[in-house]
Amino acid sequence: MLIKKPSDIRPSEITSHDNYLNRREFIRAGAIAGGSLLASSALGAVIPEGQLAKLEGVRASAFSTGESPNSYDDITTYNNYYEFGTGKGDPVVYARDFEPRPWTIRVEGHAEKTGTFDLDDFVKPFDLEERIYRMRCVEAWSMVIPWVGISLAEVVKHLQPTSKAKYVAFETLNDPDRMPGLRRRVLDWPYREGLTIAEATNPLPILAVGLYGEVLPNQNGAPIRLVVPWKYGFKGIKSIVTIRFTERMPKTSWNMSQPREYGFYANVNPEVNHPRWSQARERRIGASVFATKQPTLMFNGYGDEVAHLYDGLDLRRNF
Ligand code: MTE
Repeated sequence: MLIKKPSDIRPSEITSHDNYLNRREFIRAGAIAGGSLLASSALGAVIPEGQLAKLEGVRASAFSTGESPNSYDDITTYNNYYEFGTGKGDPVVYARDFEPRPWTIRVEGHAEKTGTFDLDDFVKPFDLEERIYRMRCVEAWSMVIPWVGISLAEVVKHLQPTSKAKYVAFETLNDPDRMPGLRRRVLDWPYREGLTIAEATNPLPILAVGLYGEVLPNQNGAPIRLVVPWKYGFKGIKSIVTIRFTERMPKTSWNMSQPREYGFYANVNPEVNHPRWSQARERRIGASVFATKQPTLMFNGYGDEVAHLYDGLDLRRNF
């Protein structure tokens, strides 16, 4: 594995992220303490809130929404993560034994700082922030999620892309021994996503390493995943192993699979329907069955922060 240490790690940051290393210990302790509870639970696989390592030194973010977050259960049992099955309830079951350590991130392409970095070294130079974001899935449901993560813009600046870098591409781990869903060719693996450099250096996107103040559960993309709150959820690539700075627009999984239905930009846009359904309204997961669907907001309500990125771009063509 790895091994390159960024030179600007502050000692205070090393201790503040120490807990981050102890994930397995917490899971084991939790599994023992809550053994009977887990065995009797309907899903039999949820690691309950309070049983993954708590992240320390997390500061609140001005970008957080004031809306109430979804429950930990909603967020960790209703997932899209095809490497662990295509059903919403599959990832919580089939990712349970996934071991997201040791983990390295490979940085490639047009940047000054390329190479293979141990994840803990990769994360350490940056402040951990809680960002409570509205998340909107292309399937017309939504949640409010209290992520913990590091600013993608800070990461990109730190890696020093060259003037040739116009896009940032991301790839998920592609290891069928650890991710059983990869044996089925439902997508052209590995899962891929990408952003323009302007999008990646906007203050909103984060690389999330936690949820509800704790280490990220496997089914949500442990150990590190992308969160881009003004785009449909499929842009939020999970379990990232590669970050590549490219000159050309990178290929992205859903666009490769169904180009007429999923574009590169994937901005939340109530005015542009999916070819098979409307995007005008959304169902908030966890809301009462009697609740009416709520209107979807342009850019998922983050227009003030991001609309300028698309000045002059036809958003119907560039969906
Ligand atoms: N990342 C990978 N590697 N594989 C996937 O199947 N699904 C995407 C995205 N990231 C997916 C992925 C989709 S369609 C959505 S809606 C979000 O993850 C769901 O994230 P969540 O389960 O944490 O809510």
